[in-house]
Amino acid sequence: MHMRNVTILGTSRLLLREFHRDDAAALALVIADPETMRFYPAPFDRAGVEQWIERNLRRYARYGHGLWGMVLKSTGELIGDCGLTFQNVEGVDELEIGYHVRRDLWGQGLATEAARACRDYGFGRWQAERIISLIRPENISSRRVAEKNGMKIWKEAMHHGLQHLVYRIRREHASAR
Ligand SMILES: CC(C)(COP(=O)(O)OP(=O)(O)OC[C@H]1O[C@@H](n2cnc3c(N)ncnc32)[C@H](O)[C@@H]1OP(=O)(O)O)[C@@H](O)C(=O)NCCC(=O)NCCS
Repeated sequence: MHMRNVTILGTSRLLLREFHRDDAAALALVIADPETMRFYPAPFDRAGVEQWIERNLRRYARYGHGLWGMVLKSTGELIGDCGLTFQNVEGVDELEIGYHVRRDLWGQGLATEAARACRDYGFGRWQAERIISLIRPENISSRRVAEKNGMKIWKEAMHHGLQHLVYRIRREHASAR
């Protein structure tokens, strides 16, 4: 079977690469975990995990970016995702950085490392004027990642029927960092 193996970004500990359909089992360890997904309506079942991958394959084809698989260089394992997607916020498509990390690896700075690489890529390769992260107010870990990524709260907005904080970094602030 032909499998595209497209690596998008590398950091000191991580590779971000396009998902493959056979990443479902490894991705399920992340987004089917009830604790990891507690700020979402529900953890994803197997079909939901497969749809998540399909959605991102469509994003790569249409936009050239999406959520990418986060691979730990030291083991080669897929341990999460991070990437750039368009999210509609109050009628405007905004470029968003999103991230999910397998729970046994939290607190090591991995999401921050990946998110920073995506921020620089969004401003560099994609010439974005601003990049956001949409975060539920009670999701303190995710807010910390956004803050460590140089973002500040821009506004509050409803997204998929739930109140979110919209964190943002503008291009001119990113280049001055
Ligand atoms: C948000 C998430 C991706 C962070 O991943 P991570 O690799 O642990 O992130 P980092 O290590 O870069 O930073 C995590 C921050 O949260 C803090 N934190 C709070 N509770 C924590 C916990 N239970 N375990 C680990 N870190 C925790 C850490 O202290 C750290 O902040 P600090 O540097 O100020 O100490 C991860 O917690 C996760 O997958 N959460 C569930 C999915 C999710 O909510 N994604 C975001 C949707 S908006």
